[in-house]
Amino acid sequence: MEFDIAISGRVYIHHQLVDAAIGIKDRKIAAIKKSIQNSIDFGSKIILPARVDPHVHFRDPGFTEKEDFFTGTLSAAFGGVSCALDMPNTQPFLYRYQNLGEKEHIASRKAVVDYGLIVGMRNRILDEKALNRSPALKIFMAPTTGGIVNNLDDLALQYLLNIMMEYGKPVIFHAEEPSYMGDGAENLKEHLKSRPNISEAEAIRRLIKTSKPLHIAHVSTKEGAEVLKNRAEGQSSEVTAHHLLLTIDSDFENEAYGKVNPPLRKREDRDALWNALRNGIIDMISSDHAPHTIEEKEEFETAPSGIPGVETTLPLILAQVKNGNISFERAVEVLIENPAKRFCPQKGSIEVGKDADLIVIDMKSVTKIRAEDLHSKAGWTPFEGMEGIFPLSLYVRGNQVIKNGNFEGEKGFGRNLWMQPHTKPE
Ligand code: DOR
Ligand code: ZN
Repeated sequence: MEFDIAISGRVYIHHQLVDAAIGIKDRKIAAIKKSIQNSIDFGSKIILPARVDPHVHFRDPGFTEKEDFFTGTLSAAFGGVSCALDMPNTQPFLYRYQNLGEKEHIASRKAVVDYGLIVGMRNRILDEKALNRSPALKIFMAPTTGGIVNNLDDLALQYLLNIMMEYGKPVIFHAEEPSYMGDGAENLKEHLKSRPNISEAEAIRRLIKTSKPLHIAHVSTKEGAEVLKNRAEGQSSEVTAHHLLLTIDSDFENEAYGKVNPPLRKREDRDALWNALRNGIIDMISSDHAPHTIEEKEEFETAPSGIPGVETTLPLILAQVKNGNISFERAVEVLIENPAKRFCPQKGSIEVGKDADLIVIDMKSVTKIRAEDLHSKAGWTPFEGMEGIFPLSLYVRGNQVIKNGNFEGEKGFGRNLWMQPHTKPE
């Protein structure tokens, strides 16, 4: 069989690293063999499936001073992400088919990796045509940067989840109950007080009680992780690298860099999140990449909430494997396999027939994260100086997008995988 290209190295197949070669044809993995002639040989370096990031805010259209679809997907590529799911809190807020068309027009010309456009709901309007072309529906239960709050009582929630089961699309919840919230904060401690743990835990409790399939974004509290033990079949959740690695007591160059919703919490929360992630209670890691400009982050009180992270999430967590915080197998599951299984099953695994989305990593190549080396427009990171293992190369559908740490991709190469109506990506 003739391949378009073939690469070889220590390949992660069936949860093991084996010396193997991957033959790629027509953008898919066509064969996995002991060796393939003329393959590009990565020697003892590790070849993993690329990562699906289920939660990013690329800000385009409307807030392109913070990020746009080119810089957002470029940053994703450098972080080993071959597909990112963009959230609807752009301008205009994305909930109608017309807005989806406009956003798609922009994204399709700028994206360097694949993507999906998640839609939201406004005034209880669910646009069927838009939903059919979206990986999921996002519901904001509480106010946050640019999010349209959906006030749903238990009945409305059940009704919505029943409808969404018919569509076969996951519903992703920003789970915080607004009734517990205060306002105004001048530092991280006060910000945490204004959005207390109980606010998240009660929201999660209400959601899982429905027993309906759904996905809980960015779990951040020990109480939330505890409540999740009672989740039903088909209910999944994610945690971010910032909630796993930062607390209100972390050292920040500027405290506003740690201002995010849900807020950074205490050490005991962080430790409980690691346990829940290791034990299979939390299923996956998202970046919740939420860039804002350095100028916007100058004053704590007025700074918008959000932390950029699409480029640093996989590198930070791989470095945690080195520190013994999580096993390599579990890290691959939560960073790569589980997000793909939940949202984008054509990716996230090295198997014949899957998209040829691959990263090459060297676990010995640990570097210090520096904002100036990152590609987001944000230009800052709360992870400055922390260790990361960045992918050396990235292939998206067989195309080399990153080669030896350099961008080799092309604007407009990235595809929206959900634009064919009524077809779920296989
Ligand atoms: O801190 C946050 N920032 N939380 C959100 O839910 C939205 C996000 C943003 O878009 O900036
Ligand atoms: Zn978000």
